[in-house]
Amino acid sequence: MEHFSAIQSLCRVGLEQGDARFRRQVERLRDRLKKAGDERDADVLGGLLNSVSGEASLAPSIVEVSRSLVSGDELTANVQAPVDRETSVPLAEIVLEPGLGKPEPIYNETLHLALAGLISEWERTSALQAMGVEPSRSCLFYGPPGTGKTLTAFMLAARLRLPVVNARIDGLVSSFLGTTARNIANLFEFANRYRCMLVLDEFDALAKMRDDPHEVGELKRVVNTLLQNLDARADRGLTIAITNHDGLLDPAVWRRFENHIHIGLPDAQTRLLMLRTFLASLKLNDDVLKMLSFVAGSRSGSDLRTFADSLRRNLALSGDEVSPATVTKATKAILPRLGLGSDDLEPGYLLVKDETSFIGAILHADLGIRQESLAQMLECSQSKVSRSSSEWEARVAQSNAG
Ligand SMILES: Nc1ncnc2c1ncn2[C@@H]1O[C@H](COP(=O)(O)OP(=O)(O)OP(=O)(O)O)[C@@H](O)[C@H]1O
Ligand SMILES: [Mg+2]
Repeated sequence: MEHFSAIQSLCRVGLEQGDARFRRQVERLRDRLKKAGDERDADVLGGLLNSVSGEASLAPSIVEVSRSLVSGDELTANVQAPVDRETSVPLAEIVLEPGLGKPEPIYNETLHLALAGLISEWERTSALQAMGVEPSRSCLFYGPPGTGKTLTAFMLAARLRLPVVNARIDGLVSSFLGTTARNIANLFEFANRYRCMLVLDEFDALAKMRDDPHEVGELKRVVNTLLQNLDARADRGLTIAITNHDGLLDPAVWRRFENHIHIGLPDAQTRLLMLRTFLASLKLNDDVLKMLSFVAGSRSGSDLRTFADSLRRNLALSGDEVSPATVTKATKAILPRLGLGSDDLEPGYLLVKDETSFIGAILHADLGIRQESLAQMLECSQSKVSRSSSEWEARVAQSNAG
C-alpha cells in the first residue's frame, strides 16, 4: 500500500492513546488489507495492535459506567465489609481504587478483543438499551494459576471507575453448619446495596467441599444459596467470578455466567512482550529478550514477573554493567532458584548444564536470533556457535535414526 509506513506511524501514535474507537478502525483497516490480499501490511498492523494492546491495554481511556448498569450507595473508606458471625473475619475486602499500584495486564490479541468486547458493552449500555437489549453483567475468568485473572478483574473495575468488593470464596466457607450459606447471602446483600463490582475469587473452593463426606448436605444448601443470589443479582451490578479449576464447577453455577473467558498461559509473542515490559529499564535488545523468553519456556505471567524481578536484582547486586553477556550470566545464576532449570529437557537446564544443546535448541526454535548475538550472550566465538549448532543437528539426526 502506498505511504504505508506513514500510515503505520499514525496507527501507532493513535493506538497509544488507548481510544477503543480508534483501535476498532485500525482493526477494520487490518481486516480490509487482509481481504485485499495484502497480507504483509495486514500482519504489520496486527503486530502493532498486539504490541500496543499489551503496553496500553485496559487502562488509558477510563469509562464512566452508567448508573442504569450499576446503581447503589457509594462505597467509602468508612463502610465496613460484612463479617463471619462466628469468627468476625471480614467476608470481603473493599478496594476503593482497584487499579492503584497494579501493573498493566498484557494479553494476546484474542484475549484483548474478548475483554474489549466486554468493556464496550458496559461502555455503550445506552446504545444496547436503545435496541432493546441489556448488556451482560457477569463473567467467569478461568485458567491456570498466575495468568493474571485477579489482576484483570481489578483492571476492568479500575477502567469502569468502580470499587471492588473482593471475596475469596474459601474465606466464606465456614466449619459451622449453616454459616457458609449465611455468609454468601450476607455478602451478596452487601454487594447489591453498593455501587461496585463484585469479584468472587477462588470460586472453586465450594466445589472442594464435595470431597468431604460430612459436607455433602451443606454443599447442596450452599450451592442453592449461591444460585439464588446469582439469579437475584442478574439484573444489577457487575459480577466477576474467578477459578483455576473450571472443571470442578457445578454446571448450574457455570451457566449463571453470561461470559466465560479463558485466561491461559501466554503464547510466545505475549511472553516476549511481557519480558520487554517487565525488563524495560534494562533496555535489552530483541535477541536477548528472545533468549530469555526461550529460557523461561511456557510459564505464566506471574512466573515471568518473578523471573524478571530476580534478574534485575541479580544484575543490580553484581555491579556488572548490563550487556548480553552479563544478562546471560545473571540468568544462569538465578535459574536454579526459580525452578526453571530443573527438568533436563528444559531450555533453562540446557543453558546451565549443556551449552551445545542449548545453542542447537535455541537456533532451531525459529526465533530469528542471530548467531552473532548468541555468541555475545554466551561469550564465545561465532564459529563455536555454528559448530555447536551442527553438532546438535547431527545428534538429533542420530537419535531420530536410532
Ligand atoms: N497477563 C499478565 N500481564 C501482566 N502481568 C501479569 C499477567 N499475568 C500475571 N501477571 C503478574 O503476576 C501477578 C499475579 O497475577 P494474578 O494474581 O492476577 O494471577 P491469577 O491468574 O489471579 O493467579 P491465581 O490463579 O494463582 O490466583 C500479577 O500481579 C502480575 O504482576
Ligand atoms: Mg487470582
